[in-house]
Amino acid sequence: MPRIIEEESYTAMSLKDKNILLGVCGGIAAYKIPMLIRLLKKQEANVRVILTQAATRFVTELTLSTLSQEPVLKDIFPDSSSVKEDWTKHISMGEWADAYIIAPATANTIAKLTAGICDDMLTASFLTLRPEKPKLIFPAMDGEMFASASVQRNLAWLSENGCTIINPESGELASGQCGTGRMPEPEKISEMIETAVTGNLAGSTLHGKSIVVTAGPTREKIDDVRFISNYSSGKMGFALAAAAAKRGAAVTLITGPVHLPTPAGVNRLDVESASEMDLAAKKHYPSCDIFIGAAAVADYRPMNHVAGKIKKNSTAMEIGLVRNPDVLAGFSKQKKTHQLAIGFSLETAGNIGYAIEKLEQKKLDLIAYNAYDGKTSGFEVDTNILTLIDRNGNVKELPLLDKQEAAERMLNVVEKLISSGK
Ligand code: C5P
Repeated sequence: MPRIIEEESYTAMSLKDKNILLGVCGGIAAYKIPMLIRLLKKQEANVRVILTQAATRFVTELTLSTLSQEPVLKDIFPDSSSVKEDWTKHISMGEWADAYIIAPATANTIAKLTAGICDDMLTASFLTLRPEKPKLIFPAMDGEMFASASVQRNLAWLSENGCTIINPESGELASGQCGTGRMPEPEKISEMIETAVTGNLAGSTLHGKSIVVTAGPTREKIDDVRFISNYSSGKMGFALAAAAAKRGAAVTLITGPVHLPTPAGVNRLDVESASEMDLAAKKHYPSCDIFIGAAAVADYRPMNHVAGKIKKNSTAMEIGLVRNPDVLAGFSKQKKTHQLAIGFSLETAGNIGYAIEKLEQKKLDLIAYNAYDGKTSGFEVDTNILTLIDRNGNVKELPLLDKQEAAERMLNVVEKLISSGK
């Protein structure tokens, strides 16, 4: 008989009351900083901004101080020798900060940080930051500059000395050329800050665990231009991958074709068909601690894939189908006792009994029963209603939730399952 497990409090991972110090250098990517400050303030973080002299040419002090609701810092020397707090402001910011983010970090400032030069507020604060605090450096510059031997040497040194370097992305650069040098978008930077600050403090049981998440639909080719698929958007799987990464897990996200950005800190593998997903997943079976099957894997694929485009010669046509491999069941068949297999059971009609059957048949540790209603729960929409059933028969009903929040709640249950050791 299933038991309802008690409601545990949902602890949203947020930056509320955290002190975020933002060092901004003089690069064109500085235009993204006002938006980043807005995102951080939305999470109720305290934000202080330091500008280098060159940065003042790209973003205005007025914009940044208005958004951060704090004066912007630039000068290492006091504005007035009569204001006591000003005497030591070059060290006070390093003491204040829970995390120091340098974005964009130019080649010049990166070199200064490496050499210990501290001739401005940004570099002096770097030296006075408490050593255990996260230091995130977002280099952004021209592709050739980024690839240059000195920049690479300096970044390697910073990485060896406690900084997290977030490599720039590829895409269009200010020069009009394409290359590696673009700073990630503010949403992504904000997520990374959250991971760095809350991930370290959360003490999550998922910290350091290796987690594989499958997501999205698969496409099964009929010919070169047509396929069989489903309406899965991948949102639930991506939300789980993002939430697990925030808790400090090493996440591999194996996804079918979707239109979603890669969550911060997640290793993404794109596949198309169920067979490709199966192949990619199998490589990770031995090393993963938790396997979450959130993908809507097509159960069947066309027996023959026809090259080119099938011509319409008759009024009807038949396509023979064969069964696809079950990726999740494949994992649980070989899993060791410390490994967890977690699945979803999306049902358009029926009841929780189907989910319990799948939990047993596929030898899962946890299953999320997902009653599809096409409006608030199921494919494509941003919300979900999940009922979680674990291998011990405990049942937890979640209310209608945003998929991000549903993912957090689901991981809370996974953590409980790990801690209970049953
Ligand atoms: O399709 P079904 O209801 O059996 O899916 C249940 C679980 O199994 C889901 O978590 C899904 O991701 C996984 N699955 C899979 N490979 C399949 C079919 C389902 O991994 N071929």
